[in-house]
Amino acid sequence: MMNTRQTPAHHEHRHAPRQARHVEKLEWNDAMLMGHGPMDDSHEEFVAVVNALRNSTVETALACLAAMESHLVSHFELEHSWMDKTAFPEAYSKCHRDQHDEVLEAVQRVRQMAIVGAVGLSTVHRLAQSLIDWFPGHADYMDSSLSAWINDKLHGGQAVVIRRNMAHEDRVPGESETIAA
Ligand SMILES: [Fe+2]
Ligand SMILES: [Fe+2]
Repeated sequence: MMNTRQTPAHHEHRHAPRQARHVEKLEWNDAMLMGHGPMDDSHEEFVAVVNALRNSTVETALACLAAMESHLVSHFELEHSWMDKTAFPEAYSKCHRDQHDEVLEAVQRVRQMAIVGAVGLSTVHRLAQSLIDWFPGHADYMDSSLSAWINDKLHGGQAVVIRRNMAHEDRVPGESETIAA
């Protein structure tokens, strides 16, 4: 099916992120595909790392916090490098980067406090839940614009995203691919 997400040029620009809604369970599925393979890989990894943090125990919390921080550093650096390489418009990259910075700072703050024993497991789990609540809105609104922009720059058109559940019935079950339009 066609990815109908809009490029930034057609996007109504809002500085404030949309209000995050409570997400009971964040599970990776094909509806979350943006159509830019490396971004999709990084998002799939985010889902795994944040769920590990949400389910962490007293024994694993510090390691899960470290994994979350290093995942976010590379996830965000990757998106920033695509913004730079494809000359993503400043008006859009600024608030996208600001949101990344805010999220990374929150993780770093909790991790530093957890290291010195100033916060406990409930704070770590609350942080994980706030990341779970934050991600779908960020992905749908900010990352999808970037993905559409990158595909436009790379292929001169938006990617066609074929999702497992919605794929034509003659496709191999479980197969998923992205084809440049
Ligand atoms: Fe992202
Ligand atoms: Fe992002």
